Amino acid sequence: MANDSAATVLLVDQDPSIVRDVVSYLDEKGYAVEHVDDGEKAYNLLDDRAFDVLITELNAHRINGMRLMAVAKDRNPEVCVILITREPDIERATEAMRQGALDFQTKPLNLGKLEAVIQLGLGRQRLVFEQHELRRRLDEKYGLGSLVGKSRGMIKVYEAVRQIAPTRATVLIQGETGTGKDLVAQAIHTNSPRRDAPFVKLNCASIPEALVESELFGHVAGAFTGATHTRKGRFELADKGTLFLDEVGELSLALQAKLLRVLENQQFERLGDSRTLHVDVRLIAATNRPLEKMVAEGNFRDDLYYRLRVVTIDMPSLRQRREDIPLLVDTFFREACRANNKDLEGITRNATDVLMRYDWPGNVRELKNIIEGIVIMARSGRLLDVQDIPEHIRRTTAPEVREMRIPTGANMAEVERIVIEETMKVCGFNKERCADTLDIGLRTLYRKLKEYDIR
Ligand SMILES: Nc1ncnc2c1ncn2[C@@H]1O[C@H](COP(=O)(O)OP(=O)(O)O)[C@@H](O)[C@H]1O
Ligand SMILES: [Mg+2]
Repeated sequence: MANDSAATVLLVDQDPSIVRDVVSYLDEKGYAVEHVDDGEKAYNLLDDRAFDVLITELNAHRINGMRLMAVAKDRNPEVCVILITREPDIERATEAMRQGALDFQTKPLNLGKLEAVIQLGLGRQRLVFEQHELRRRLDEKYGLGSLVGKSRGMIKVYEAVRQIAPTRATVLIQGETGTGKDLVAQAIHTNSPRRDAPFVKLNCASIPEALVESELFGHVAGAFTGATHTRKGRFELADKGTLFLDEVGELSLALQAKLLRVLENQQFERLGDSRTLHVDVRLIAATNRPLEKMVAEGNFRDDLYYRLRVVTIDMPSLRQRREDIPLLVDTFFREACRANNKDLEGITRNATDVLMRYDWPGNVRELKNIIEGIVIMARSGRLLDVQDIPEHIRRTTAPEVREMRIPTGANMAEVERIVIEETMKVCGFNKERCADTLDIGLRTLYRKLKEYDIR
């Protein structure tokens, strides 16, 4: 609804005297009123553009008022709808209100009351509109939904989310642990037309492999030992909504084949049942394992991989977007203070600098936990400083440059061994970080550690 232009009203009624009265009354009050005498004409108009108000006979000719309400809501979910009838009819009035009508009035109409109801509806519409607008502006300023960050990496993520949310394309979210994959999956769902249908999640790594299948597809009583009742699977629970499969790289090859089948034709059977079920589910998958490599190694089906990665979102690690750290620190600091009823003054710039230099192998999740820990430990009224930060973080960010000695006369293999060994030490024997620092694959690192007998 535009803020200052006249509110648009569509009136659907066959009775010329009613039309004349309502139109002239509302016209005078400054509304932009259009009228038609049958449901089909109304349908075409409503299908074509959004109205702020729909006043219609319940029994409009050809297409009834309830149907028209649904069409109007497609265009403007906040449209205020007033249904009119000849006879009072409590049952139908209740049903209409349940489906979102604002009011139900009986002829002859009381024009003053009609306009009061319109005013009320428009007021609510304006509120919702302002809330959307506010959220949009906040999103623009700080991020998307509960995602915080305005680095280039994150802005690319928001753009991708906005672009793909309205579609039903399958999405693959890749990134290290703690980078916000769950939040992105949520944001896609909430920004999609499926937002009012369920968002169902299954973490493929957190349940025993034998149970994953029945979790996904459900089972009937007696399908396997322990299956005492019929149970719906996540695909059924997510019907019309979104299913988020976390850690999809953990699925066995056999289950990958079954998943592919559901993705291709939206059909499956419950375990122990021969009936084929149909669902309408949008799938979002996430992984912190490099699926492409798993495909090359034969541990992930290539056909499923191609199907999943129709759209991919790569989550930047926190160390790739250090400039977001102050904003994140600020957000988590406030959250933690509120949640723990602490009244702290803030965090010094020096402390934030230390946090910006750390490598955050656990990404945003690690940062959030650290901040929460600091806040809980601090006495009220304090200004947090460097000494409040846990030692292991202060230590690993010390701007020290270590050097390694390579004897002249060493051959390439020896040079490699020394480099790997020294890097392992600097990384505290964390293999992921070591591989990252050397910019080689984790598997390559494992091979070389074995080859050079480094432990
Ligand atoms: N960009 C972000 N803004 C705010 N909070 C974030 C962000 N990314 C992650 N988090 C928080 O960090 C934690 C881990 O996020 P999550 O989405 O579960 O990561 P992942 O699924 O990639 O392991 C959650 O508490 C989440 O709220
Ligand atoms: Mg996760």
